[in-house]
Amino acid sequence: MSNLVDPFGRTIDYLRLSVTDRCDLRCFYCMPEGFNDFEVPEHWLTADEIERLLGVMAEMGLRRVRITGGEPLVRRGIEDIVRRIDALPGIRDIALSTNATRLGKMAAPLKAAGVDRINVSLDTLDADRFKQITQGKLSKVIDGLMAAKDAGLSPIKLNMVVMKGVNEDDVESVLEFCIEHGFVLRMIETMPMGDTGRDALDHYISLQTIKQRLSERYPLIPVINPVDGAGPARYLQIAGTDTQVGFITPMSEHFCGTCNRVRLSVDGTMYMCLGQEHNFSFRPLLRNGIPDDELKEAIISAIGLKPERHEFQDKPEKVIRFMSMTGG
Ligand code: GTP
Ligand code: 5AD
Ligand code: SF4
Repeated sequence: MSNLVDPFGRTIDYLRLSVTDRCDLRCFYCMPEGFNDFEVPEHWLTADEIERLLGVMAEMGLRRVRITGGEPLVRRGIEDIVRRIDALPGIRDIALSTNATRLGKMAAPLKAAGVDRINVSLDTLDADRFKQITQGKLSKVIDGLMAAKDAGLSPIKLNMVVMKGVNEDDVESVLEFCIEHGFVLRMIETMPMGDTGRDALDHYISLQTIKQRLSERYPLIPVINPVDGAGPARYLQIAGTDTQVGFITPMSEHFCGTCNRVRLSVDGTMYMCLGQEHNFSFRPLLRNGIPDDELKEAIISAIGLKPERHEFQDKPEKVIRFMSMTGG
C-alpha cells in the first residue's frame, strides 16, 4: 500500500529528480542566459541528502526515478548519485533525460551505475538548425546517442519539441532516423514555462496536426507492446515495424487525470505540478536532522498540496520558473 496518494486519488510513484539547473546547451525555449558555472553551490542537495529523501520516499511507495537537470550529466558525481539511488530498496526504474552531449564518454559508466533507460532531446538532424536552436554541436549528440546504443541502454527515446517555423518540417527525417536506429520518437508541444517558454508559444503547433500529417505517410496503428515508460506520452506504432511514436500533448489534450509524479529541484524544493508553483522545501528539514517519521509526515503533507492540473492555456503567465529548473 502506497502512502503517496494525492488529494485527487492519484498514486504518486514517480519522482523527477533535478540534479543541476545548469546546462551546456541553450535551447531557446528552455533556458535563460547565464548559469555557466558548473560548481556545486552550498544550497544544492548533496548526494547524501538525495539518498536520504529518496530512500524514505521509496519506503512510502516511490518506484521510479527520472534524473533530469538542466543537463544532469554536468553535475559532478552523477554516477555516484545514480549508484546510491539504484541501491535503494523499492526503486525499480532509473531513467535519465539528457541532451546527450556528454554521453559519448558517460553512457557505459552510467549504465554500469544503474541507469536503465534514457530520453534524449533532439529537435532536428540539420546541424545548422541544431546550432540555431541550442547553440551547440549536433555531432556530439549523435556520438552520444551511438555510445548509448552500444552501451545497451534501452529503450532510447528521442524528445522532439515540435515548433512551427522552426523544425516542424524535420519530423519525418527524425522519424526515419529512429526507424534506422531502433529509437522511439516522442514529439512534445511547447509549454509556457518561464519567459523562454512563453516566448516559444509563438511557435506553438498542435501535435494533432502533425499526427494527421504523419498518418498520411505512415500506417499508424495502436501499439502492440508498449515501450517502458512512466510519463504522459501516448503512443502509436508504424505498422510492419517495431517503431513507436509518442505524442506529448499538454496543450491540445492534457493528461493530468493520470498524473503519477512530482519533481524535486536541485535546491530540495518539491514542485507538485509542472504547470503550477505549489511547492514544499525539504532542504531545511534535511539539514536540521529531521527524524524519519517526521520526514514521512512532511512528505505526506507535500503530496497533499498537489493541484488537479496545469493551467497553461488559461494562464500562460502563471509559471515563473524555467523548464531548466526541473528538467520538464
Ligand atoms: P518516460 O518515463 O520515458 O515516459 O519519460 P517522461 O516522458 O516522463 O520524461 P521526459 O523527461 O522525457 O519528458 C518528456 C516531456 O514530457 C518533457 O517535455 C516534459 O516536460 C513532459 N512532461 C513530463 N511529465 C509531465 C507532466 O507531468 N506534465 C506536463 N505538462 N509535461 C510533462
Ligand atoms: N516546452 C516543452 N518541452 C520543453 N522542453 C524544454 N523546454 C520545453 C518547453 N518550453 C523539453 C526538452 C526535453 C524535455 C525534458 O523537456 O526538450 O527534451
Ligand atoms: Fe501532472 Fe501537473 Fe503534469 Fe498535469 S501538468 S500531468 S497535473 S504534473
